[in-house]
Amino acid sequence: MGRKRPLTHHRLLRDNRGAAVAVFGIGALAFLALGVRAVSSSVPAQERVGPAGVTEVVAPEEGAGQMPGAQDRLAQDELDVRVRRFLDESRRRWRDQNVPEEDGRLLYDLIVDHGYTRALEVGTSTGHSAIWIAWALSKTGGKLITIEIDEGRYRQALRNFEEAGLSDYIDARLANAHDLVPALEGPFDFVFVDADKDWYTRYFRAILPKLEVGGCFTAHNVRGRRTGWLREFLEVLESTPNLETEIRGSRRSGVSVSFKRG
Ligand SMILES: C[S@@+](CC[C@H](N)C(=O)[O-])C[C@H]1O[C@@H](n2cnc3c(N)ncnc32)[C@H](O)[C@@H]1O
Repeated sequence: MGRKRPLTHHRLLRDNRGAAVAVFGIGALAFLALGVRAVSSSVPAQERVGPAGVTEVVAPEEGAGQMPGAQDRLAQDELDVRVRRFLDESRRRWRDQNVPEEDGRLLYDLIVDHGYTRALEVGTSTGHSAIWIAWALSKTGGKLITIEIDEGRYRQALRNFEEAGLSDYIDARLANAHDLVPALEGPFDFVFVDADKDWYTRYFRAILPKLEVGGCFTAHNVRGRRTGWLREFLEVLESTPNLETEIRGSRRSGVSVSFKRG
């Protein structure tokens, strides 16, 4: 047993060097952990090259706030390559009243730019627009419900979704949308209607209460003379309170884009 020495500040530091090192180590680790959290919780939209020539702003994916793992990045990059290859190879094969590429890109941009995740499509056909929508949803962590009444087209769409690598993002239903749309629970934040035109207004009325504020309702083939169903549909859109509508998309077909503001 040695002689007791007075506990000076200097000695305290020296005798507790081990403890001090430990405390410092823990503090450093905590600092690093907090730092990483702070960085990860503000994961910004990322820029990535998407459809040829388009720089995507990628909304934080599901589980936003966590650093996207290298694995996830790799999987997303592989998916991008697969979808792009499928779209390139099938460019001249769409002949079932499918949307032109320009309109597919518009749907893609709307979803990615706004970070939409709960999408509904009425009128799948063989799946061209659904592929653009689902590709965008693969970035936002969302999913698409798409409805088709024709069994042959529905089955071809399933094959296309598989080939494009997007089946996991699509819930394809073989059904009459007249019955299914009113029965779907929602909510939705993105809707694309591209089926029987004379039913557009009814689809809109059935969907509007299930559309989230900030959500977007789009419809295809809205350019042309304002007569018949088109006149009725556009008048309903334009007279709906808290709905902002404009016509965008291809010159041949056109897409109405309506945002629900309240
Ligand atoms: C213009 S095409 C859709 C094209 C598709 N959006 C694309 O880009 O690939 C319209 C589709 O709506 C389907 N359709 C028409 N009436 C329907 C209904 N009542 N319920 C479900 N699908 C319907 C048709 O069979 C047709 O395949």
